[in-house]
Amino acid sequence: MTIKPLRKAVFPVAGLGTRFLPATKAMPKEMLTVVDKPLIQYAVEEALEAGIEQIIFVTGRGKAALEDHFDVSYELEATMRARGKSLDLIHGIRQRPGSPVYVRQQEPLGLGHAVWCAREIVGDEPFAVLLPDELMVGSPNFLAQMVEAYNQVGGNVIGALEVPDEETDKYGIISPGRTEGPLVEVTALVEKPARGTAPSNLMIPGRYILQPEVMRVLEAGEKGAGGEIQLTDAMARLIGTQPFHGFTFAGQRYDCGDKAGYIQANLALALARDDIGPQVRSFAQALLA
Ligand code: G1P
Repeated sequence: MTIKPLRKAVFPVAGLGTRFLPATKAMPKEMLTVVDKPLIQYAVEEALEAGIEQIIFVTGRGKAALEDHFDVSYELEATMRARGKSLDLIHGIRQRPGSPVYVRQQEPLGLGHAVWCAREIVGDEPFAVLLPDELMVGSPNFLAQMVEAYNQVGGNVIGALEVPDEETDKYGIISPGRTEGPLVEVTALVEKPARGTAPSNLMIPGRYILQPEVMRVLEAGEKGAGGEIQLTDAMARLIGTQPFHGFTFAGQRYDCGDKAGYIQANLALALARDDIGPQVRSFAQALLA
């Protein structure tokens, strides 16, 4: 088996973010900040650090702020230069000319549909998918750890994290087979199983390395849980035809698609900062005393 190198990453960012209204009425949810950086930037940095060369955003109406964020801001640069301020904070995220690539998902038909919208840019190569509302903190980062595993086993490698029983109905869930270190064989997948029916506690935390064949499965547009075209269902069809592994991340996950998770991420990352950490810590201690 030849293992094709992973070069491309797809970021589905067309979602409406209804769970964060009113904050997300006129602003993409991916631009919500954790301390001083938008969620999308954490995910893009994770991908670039993991060796990804091409960033593909699957976007939609009302998401222009995302495009501007990864573009040059002449006014900002000129003003900062005139004030003698460092441009490091805004230069780091500029991409090479021609990247990122933006494709549109015209209708909100589900995660599987969003990923399928990137099929022409992905072509016949393996690709990563990162869901930016899942914020992962670790060193090496989550995708980098997955890439290392992928380079050994090939095929499809998806994140796998344990959640409490009462949360399994919110996620894609893995039926685990043989385990070897951080890798677990995937024998089946189910999207948002009804309470009490989950095959395990291993959820899929929004990090995927997939083979392009999944696009052919998505082509059929079959609907699953919630009446949406589910990536989980399409991936499930590949089991048995290609190697399929879950990968357990040694690091911390914050579910920033959830209000409590988002606040936790802000608190944890603020406390870890040298500049504001001490101040936030003493405030939090006083607040809880
Ligand atoms: C999506 C996926 C699900 C995955 C989850 C991770 O669900 O469909 O399999 O576990 O992201 O956050 P959503 O959160 O879009 O409902």
